[in-house]
Amino acid sequence: MAENLFESIFQELMATRKYQEMDLPEATIRDLLMKELPNHRSSKDAIKEVRKKLHNIIAPYLGNPDYAAAASQLEIAFRTGNSQEIKGACTSLLALHASTRERLQILEEFYNRLFSITGQPQILLDLACGLNPLTFPWMGLPTSTCFHAYDIHRPRVAFINHFFRLQGLAPLACVQDVLVEPPQVEGDVAFLFKEAHRFEQRQKGCNRALWQALQVRYILVSLPPRSLSGHHNLVERQRQLVSNTLEGLDWTVQEVLFDNEMVFVIEKR
Ligand SMILES: C[S@@+](CC[C@H](N)C(=O)[O-])C[C@H]1O[C@@H](n2cnc3c(N)ncnc32)[C@H](O)[C@@H]1O
Repeated sequence: MAENLFESIFQELMATRKYQEMDLPEATIRDLLMKELPNHRSSKDAIKEVRKKLHNIIAPYLGNPDYAAAASQLEIAFRTGNSQEIKGACTSLLALHASTRERLQILEEFYNRLFSITGQPQILLDLACGLNPLTFPWMGLPTSTCFHAYDIHRPRVAFINHFFRLQGLAPLACVQDVLVEPPQVEGDVAFLFKEAHRFEQRQKGCNRALWQALQVRYILVSLPPRSLSGHHNLVERQRQLVSNTLEGLDWTVQEVLFDNEMVFVIEKR
């Protein structure tokens, strides 16, 4: 497609109020549009598919806090200097998003078991992080840890940096589409929690390029063992996703099964 034509369709899409409200990185919309246009007879159909994918990527149905209220809730808790108050405030905020709400019941053992395999990371990446950085008080890591967090949702990233500052961590959260621009930070461990299966819906097979590009020793890929409704067992499907992604690569994989989350501890070679 001619560059001018692509640009005019892209600008038309960006000009709609809905996209201005979403305030997503331009790179995400460009990427989606570029991949969809060749698959459709008309640009209208391509735009319809981009809209559908964006809805799945942002997933408003998973929950979203009121960030101004959440920020003051954290400030009040940190002002007390009491670690139980801080954990209490984090717990109530983590409960506002489905992925972290499900993790709450296993938090006490979650990082213990994972870091007993990887060792304690000094440089940590959390890809498509959502609210998960608020689980830092359960990680048992010092505040000298370099904790890089990535998400495409601007208000969420600003809020995570606010939390990082209160927690005494460097504010290393940034707005970045990790599929368009895989992080190049050299690190010990990268989390990719509850998102790889959704990445596959955005673009089949895209996990492989991301996992290969990461400059880390371990990638912890977590996936839900059951559907959101709880009716379908997804364990075999998730194993298949990981083994397809790693086909032909001699990386090692250990599976750590929690009640409602399965984690593949992948060591890159
Ligand atoms: C289902 S939530 C998972 C949150 C977190 N990983 C967890 O398990 O608690 C998905 C998050 O990933 C973000 N996201 C989706 N696609 C992304 C991408 N390509 N790059 C960076 N962030 C992305 C969304 O904005 C959302 O906050």
